[in-house]
Amino acid sequence: MNNIHDTATILNNAISWAREAGHLQLEYFRGNNLNIESKFNDSDIVTVADKASEQIIINHIKNAYPAHAILSEEMGDNAITSDYRWIIDPLDGTTNFSNGLPLFSVSIALEYCGKAIIGVVYAPYLNELFYATKGGGAWLNGNKIATSRKNSLAHSVVATGFPVDKDRTNDNNLDNVTRVLPHVRGMRRLGSAAIDLCYVAAGFLDGYWEMNLHTWDVSAGRLIAEEAGAKCSLFRNDRNISIIAATPLIFDSLSSLLSNQPHSPQ
Ligand code: IPD
Ligand code: CA
Ligand code: CA
Repeated sequence: MNNIHDTATILNNAISWAREAGHLQLEYFRGNNLNIESKFNDSDIVTVADKASEQIIINHIKNAYPAHAILSEEMGDNAITSDYRWIIDPLDGTTNFSNGLPLFSVSIALEYCGKAIIGVVYAPYLNELFYATKGGGAWLNGNKIATSRKNSLAHSVVATGFPVDKDRTNDNNLDNVTRVLPHVRGMRRLGSAAIDLCYVAAGFLDGYWEMNLHTWDVSAGRLIAEEAGAKCSLFRNDRNISIIAATPLIFDSLSSLLSNQPHSPQ
């Protein structure tokens, strides 16, 4: 069967669009024509490569699946109602990208009735292609992946991130960092939520949490992490999407150290 609506065909399409967008990003990477603009503040930026990548992916979706809904970071939503909705972060890790740091990715998910059924995350500089389908496992460059089997925080390397509104609130995750840091082998801030989730999937990280993210940051990566056996859940219902993902045997220890409440200044 090669119906354009079967899962394997949709996945292959999404992979080829992610690769095309990623290759375009490499043409701009470490160049002088990024045209960096601020959005919410100076920590929230967009470049010409974000916009051009988004255009590539959206054009392909409109051609292949014109009746599908689309939510994409820079463009917003396409005002189509459908059981199928594409969730796109055309360039996740723009701060890294704009500074010449190689951890950035293209993130594409397809939801059916509000649940992700396909997730693709491609980190072009690293040439790492992660993908998953609901119930079909998670893969890195064609090899099946699974979370690490760590069972203690003391042996774990975890990652986190800091919210873009850190200039106007001290509810900025530093309280969580202070609590978690003494208990873990190492803590990292990679700068691409999609890569963070995929690295939990592949066992390169044992856990990850971040608050104040958006659907496009996590939709594909969460499916990939869950299909690789990670436990994922949301916390803090007042800070957009706040997510914890970890290998199952450290999940409870990590989440017990994270606050469900806003941080109050002393
Ligand atoms: C950002 C990255 C980063 C996270 C930020 C996100 P963007 O996405 O995922 O790791 O800490 O909160 O906004 O803006 O580069 O697509
Ligand atoms: Ca993002
Ligand atoms: Ca982005």
